[in-house]
Amino acid sequence: MSRSLVALVLVACGGQTVPVADVTEHVAPVPQASEPADEPASANALPVRDPADIPAGPEGDAIRRGREIALDTHRLLPDNVGNGLNCTNCHLKAGTVAKAAPWAGVTDRYPKFRKRSGKIDDLPDRMNGCFERSMNGKALEKDSEPMQALVAYATWLSEGVADGKTLEGIGMPRIEAPAAPDIENGRAVFEQKCVACHQGDGQGVFGPDDQTMFPPLWGDRSFNVGAGMARLDTAAAFVKWNMPLNQGGTLTDQEAYDVAAYFSTRERPDFAKKHLDWPNGDKPRDARY
Ligand code: HEC
Ligand code: HEC
Repeated sequence: MSRSLVALVLVACGGQTVPVADVTEHVAPVPQASEPADEPASANALPVRDPADIPAGPEGDAIRRGREIALDTHRLLPDNVGNGLNCTNCHLKAGTVAKAAPWAGVTDRYPKFRKRSGKIDDLPDRMNGCFERSMNGKALEKDSEPMQALVAYATWLSEGVADGKTLEGIGMPRIEAPAAPDIENGRAVFEQKCVACHQGDGQGVFGPDDQTMFPPLWGDRSFNVGAGMARLDTAAAFVKWNMPLNQGGTLTDQEAYDVAAYFSTRERPDFAKKHLDWPNGDKPRDARY
């Protein structure tokens, strides 16, 4: 990996908005001769995209609007979101953070066959899966303006990605499951490491205009039982790499599983269409139903 790339990756992790040009200026130049033309590691790294580089004009307007929707979903799309969440609450920093299911390369990962739906899902189908489950809401029409904007934004994030399927940091990499998660210890981890933001009742904090400050982890305004985050292995992986906020990787795998078992199993909205999931009988081991 070249030194300039290391710098770019650090910027991505720190989430700062330093323009790429500024970063590379502070890095000692790497002799061209030592750089193979296509270095596999760098070609595969999650791209760093600066929203300031979104082009002007109608195409750029759609990309910008898609990003705004990702950041402020429940307020911008009240007819399609039934809870208090925004896409960015799980797809951190508007879908740009490694190990928080980033959207770079999704245009290459879809369409694909998915066991949960038992069919080939395209990108709008996949996004609608999150609208119906993670957002406890309603699917958008595929050709609607907001769906087209989300796809335009994901397409922009995917620019320059050679192979979306093997990109570093995609998904939420699963961690080792303990023999049995300890819910009582999960409660203790929650009290110690999560309540400062998500609150003791797990209902999070909303601002005066109902903007999500800290998202709820259970209850009416949380994701429903059909959501990926309601599944133990997924919740444990997300927490392990991303929580407490800005301290990803600090919990042990056991602690991540224990606290995930604690919050993911608490009361939350039902998912009316859950009987349609995994139509071929190949449920994952952590399916909720
Ligand atoms: C409560 C958390 C949560 C929220 C909120 C959420 N998602 Fe997701 N999303 C997930 C999980 C979990 C996955 C699957 C990740 C995995 O299994 O590795 C996922 C996967 C996806 C994927 C596929 C990613 C890939 O690489 O295959 C897309 C696209 C997506 N979500 C879009 C959205 C959009 C658009 C919104 C807002 C309307 C949204 N999500 C809101 C949790 C969430
Ligand atoms: C410093 C504040 C803070 C702490 C501490 C914290 N979180 Fe979060 N958490 C957040 C924020 C903020 C988000 C949404 C991220 C965003 O929008 O950028 C979030 C998102 C989440 C989500 C996905 C969205 C949702 O509501 O379902 C889960 C799950 C989660 N946190 C679990 C935990 C767990 C478990 C702990 C303790 C181990 C924890 N968090 C500790 C601030 C925090």
